[in-house]
Amino acid sequence: MRTKLVAANWKMNGSFKLLDETLNVLSPLMERASCEVVICPPDVLLYSMKSAVEGTRIAVGAQNVHSEISGAFTGETSAPLLQECGVQWCIVGHSERRILFGETDEFIRSKTETLLKHGIRPILCVGETLEQRKSGNHEEMVIAQLGKGLSGLAVDDQNRCVVAYEPIWAIGTGKTATPEQANSMHKIVRKELESLASPEVAGKMQILYGGSVNAENADTILSQSEIDGALVGGASLKIDAFPLIVAAGN
Ligand code: PGA
Repeated sequence: MRTKLVAANWKMNGSFKLLDETLNVLSPLMERASCEVVICPPDVLLYSMKSAVEGTRIAVGAQNVHSEISGAFTGETSAPLLQECGVQWCIVGHSERRILFGETDEFIRSKTETLLKHGIRPILCVGETLEQRKSGNHEEMVIAQLGKGLSGLAVDDQNRCVVAYEPIWAIGTGKTATPEQANSMHKIVRKELESLASPEVAGKMQILYGGSVNAENADTILSQSEIDGALVGGASLKIDAFPLIVAAGN
């Protein structure tokens, strides 16, 4: 039985105040929760979050990392520094980074390897565009992203990765994949993991769904057999919505 994981991707949003409010509401809920929760705020909030979550079951996550551990990369953050900030998880391969910042599968793969070397668990995002879905290439696309992201990693490392299936057409659009569409893609992802890793790794790996998850649809999405959690963008910034999504993960 895989534990559900609910991850909040704040993107370039939020504030110290929102972090305080969110942790105040979530900390008591997490005492009774069975799911795991990780919050990925912008980097400048990470160090404050590290002390604020001490003694709670809320994990600190980052949204990005560079593949190199130091150097002349203006504006970037290294894995060792994230580690010092108490970061346990980091999103890699998000479609916004792929599309807006031109990140390639190769770069994403090297980020994943750097994170693993520094004890940070990657949340590898994969997903197709609307055009790819319409032309029926979505499975092939996602399978290629998975292979480039995870094949050839040591088994221990594969076991520390989580995949987030995020159809790009569902991100921030209010158009969620139907629970059936999501569940069937998750089945395909797990089947692919069986061959590129092993049936053991595939059976254990949490596969999250992301794309317009909200307080209203979270129960249905999270009750699908192959959906092991959610990567939540917009609704994770809403203090009255995110706790309900976490509750749906229990
Ligand atoms: P959304 O974003 O929930 O706002 O659609 C999800 C994501 O981009 O991870």
